[in-house]
Amino acid sequence: MAATVPPVLVSSESSLGPNDATRRRLDAWHAEYGPVYRVQRPDGNTAAEWVIHEPEAVRDVLARRSRHFTKGQGLDRVKILLGNGLMVSEGDFWQRQRRLMQPAFRPQSLADFYSMIFDETRKMAEELGAAADANQPVAMVPRISELILVMVLKSVFGPDYDALVIHDDNPFRLLTAEPARDLSFARRFHILTRLVHRLLAKRCEQPAASNDFLGHLASAVSDGAMSEREAVDEVMTLIVAGHETTASALAFAWHLLATHPDVLAKAQAAADSVDEDQLRVLGDGERGQLEWLDHIVAETLRLYPPGWLLSRRALTTVDVGGYYLDAGVQVYISPYILHRDPAIWVHPTGFDPGRFERPFDRASRFAYIPFAAGMRRCIGEQLARVEMRTHLVTLLRRFTPHPMDATPPSVEAGINLRPSSDIPIQFCKR
Ligand code: HEM
Repeated sequence: MAATVPPVLVSSESSLGPNDATRRRLDAWHAEYGPVYRVQRPDGNTAAEWVIHEPEAVRDVLARRSRHFTKGQGLDRVKILLGNGLMVSEGDFWQRQRRLMQPAFRPQSLADFYSMIFDETRKMAEELGAAADANQPVAMVPRISELILVMVLKSVFGPDYDALVIHDDNPFRLLTAEPARDLSFARRFHILTRLVHRLLAKRCEQPAASNDFLGHLASAVSDGAMSEREAVDEVMTLIVAGHETTASALAFAWHLLATHPDVLAKAQAAADSVDEDQLRVLGDGERGQLEWLDHIVAETLRLYPPGWLLSRRALTTVDVGGYYLDAGVQVYISPYILHRDPAIWVHPTGFDPGRFERPFDRASRFAYIPFAAGMRRCIGEQLARVEMRTHLVTLLRRFTPHPMDATPPSVEAGINLRPSSDIPIQFCKR
C-alpha cells in the first residue's frame, strides 16, 4: 500500500517545544493543515518534525509501535530537574525501573494513602468554612497547589514527612511558590536531592512499617536492585510529576463546576449519597455512586490536560497509521489539540461530563489521552484519580462554589498546562 503523504508546512520559527507559543501555533496549524502534517525549517531538506493528531496514528506511536520510538525533544529541561527518573529514562534501564516501581502503584499499595488524602482535604474544608463565614473568596490555584504538595510529600515520605517539614517550614515549598520552571528553579530544586539522599539512607538503615514510596525505593536499594542515586531521581520525579499535574486539573475543575450549576447540582447529589467513612477507606463510593464525579474529572482533563504535549523520536523507519516516518523524525502529539478537535468531539469546547457516560468506540479511544497511552502511560493515574475524586466529593458535600469571574480561565502551557492566573472561588456553606 502506498504511504500517505501529509502536507509540509515551512516554518521559520524555532522548533516546537513545551511553551505557550507552541500551543498557539499547533492550534492554528491544526485548523489549517489538518490532523497530520510535517514542519520544515526554511534551510532544511527534510521535514524533521511531524505533528500527529489522527487517533490511529497516535495509537501506533504511543502503543502499537512504541518500541520504534524514544522520548523526544523538549525533555532537556525536565532532565535537569529530574535526573534519570522514570519520566525521562529510556530502554532497558527505564524498563527495569518501571518494573521495580510498579508494585508501589498497585491498588492494594495505594489504598494506604486514601485516609491521608481524605484527612488533608478535611483540613482544607475547615479553612474553607472559616473563609465562607468571613465571606472571603479563596485563591484556589495556590491553595490547591499547597494541598496536593502535602499529599504528594506524605505519599512519598510517609512518617518522615514530619522530619522534613518542621514548624510549617516546607523545603519543597518552592514548587508552589514559584511558577517558573527555568534553569534557576532547576538548580534550587536540585539542591533538595541532598535532603532526599539523607532520608533515603536513614530509611535503608531503619526500615519503617509504613507503605510509602520512599520505603519501596529503600527496599530496592537495600536489595541491590537500584543505586541510591537512581532512587533519589525517582523520588524527585514522583514529587514533580505528581504535584503540578493534579493541582492544575483540580483548579480548572473548580472553575468548571462553579460556572455550570446543572453539572454542580448533579455532582453534589452524587457526593451527598456517599458514606464518608467508606470514601476514606476505599477512595471511592459503592456501586458506581461517584461515576458522575469521575465524568467531571474526565471532562476537565479533556479540556485542560496538564500533560498537554507528548514528544517522541523515531528510532527506525516506521509506519504510523499509513504514514512513513524516517528514523530521527521528531513527533509531537498534543492531547490538548486532540481533545478539542471538532472532527472528533461534538461541541469540543463545551463542558459536558455526560459525554463520558457513553463508552468510547475503538477508533476514538486514542483521541482521549490525558495520561498518555501504551507502555509510557502515567504510572500515577490511579493515585491522581483518587486524590481528585476524594477532594471534590469531600468539599462538595460541605460547600457550594461560586465563581468570582465566570470567563474561562486563561491557560499557560509550559512543561504542564496550568492556569496562568488565579481562580478565586467564593464557597458558601450548604
Ligand atoms: C492529573 C494528574 C496527572 C496527569 C494528567 C498525568 C499525565 C501524565 C502523562 C501524559 C504522562 C506521559 C508523559 C509522556 O509520555 O511523555 C505521565 C507520565 C508519568 N507520570 Fe503522570 N500524570 C498525573 C499524575 C501523576 C502522579 C500523581 C504521579 C505520581 C505520584 C505521576 C507520575 C508519572 C510518572 C513517574 C510518569 C512517567 C512514567 C513512565 O514513563 O514510565 N503522574 N503522566
